Amino acid sequence: MSVFAVVGGTGTLGRHVADALREQAAEVRVLARRSGEYRVDLVDGSGLDAALAGVDVVIDTSNGSPRRPEPVLVDGARRLVQAAARAGVSHVLCVSIVGIEQVPTGYYRAKLAQEEIVREGPVPWSIVRSTQFHELVAAGLQWLGRWRISPRSNAVLQPIAAAEAGRAVAEAAGRPPSPASVTIAGPEVQTLSMLARVWAERQDRRLLALGLPLPPRIGAPLQAGALSYPDPEFRGETTFASWLSGRSPIAG
Ligand SMILES: NC(=O)c1ccc[n+]([C@@H]2O[C@H](COP(=O)([O-])OP(=O)(O)OC[C@H]3O[C@@H](n4cnc5c(N)ncnc54)[C@H](OP(=O)(O)O)[C@@H]3O)[C@@H](O)[C@H]2O)c1
Repeated sequence: MSVFAVVGGTGTLGRHVADALREQAAEVRVLARRSGEYRVDLVDGSGLDAALAGVDVVIDTSNGSPRRPEPVLVDGARRLVQAAARAGVSHVLCVSIVGIEQVPTGYYRAKLAQEEIVREGPVPWSIVRSTQFHELVAAGLQWLGRWRISPRSNAVLQPIAAAEAGRAVAEAAGRPPSPASVTIAGPEVQTLSMLARVWAERQDRRLLALGLPLPPRIGAPLQAGALSYPDPEFRGETTFASWLSGRSPIAG
């Protein structure tokens, strides 16, 4: 039986990847700074060699801060791939994001660099690209909602529940490594305005719709649907509305 290491396995996506693998009766190690068993820090490499000893498949679901992602996503990915090679790991799976080459933000540049490190590394690899999670969209809308603002934007998204993305990532991790990237996306392609309306209705709140100013180099590809993927290999079934219905209204 293969041993899986989920780096960032305490996070929004990683916890679902770990759960899905456990459901398949796989042996799973959760690696993170605040992991109970396998404490690692990608920023200085501490704990990696011990945590990866005897591991067959590494799934990288770690994340850096949106403003300064490089120490975790880029330098951390390099440390992780090198440690995986030392440990004799046979497959490194990197979780990435649909459309990042089309939207020039600092965070997406770091994700592209992370992919490149994995591709050029010594361990056979796979890349799984997902659209945004419902959790991320809801968190952004909640943040704006604190100021009673609802974004008015034609940016196109196709969000998916992190639990469904986690199952798809776990399935891909059980296959042999492959350079053909797997794509995961949600069931509906919607504008941010539409998603914001659904969220406001669910919260039963009256919010002020305000345009979201974005530089054209970012706004134009977002409106053209760069972050969506209408024909993914794995399509989630839970819409943003039904995902919200399964949760308590968020205070704030
Ligand atoms: N959020 C989205 O909508 C979305 C969509 C598509 C793809 N993705 C990608 O999916 C991945 C996971 O995203 P997420 O939203 O699940 O992230 P998240 O909720 O922020 O979780 C990040 C995980 O990384 C761990 N971590 C952070 N810094 C670390 C460090 N220095 N060393 C070791 N572990 C560290 C965290 O645990 P500790 O803090 O305990 O270390 C946590 O387990 C990212 O690569 C992201 O780009 C995200």
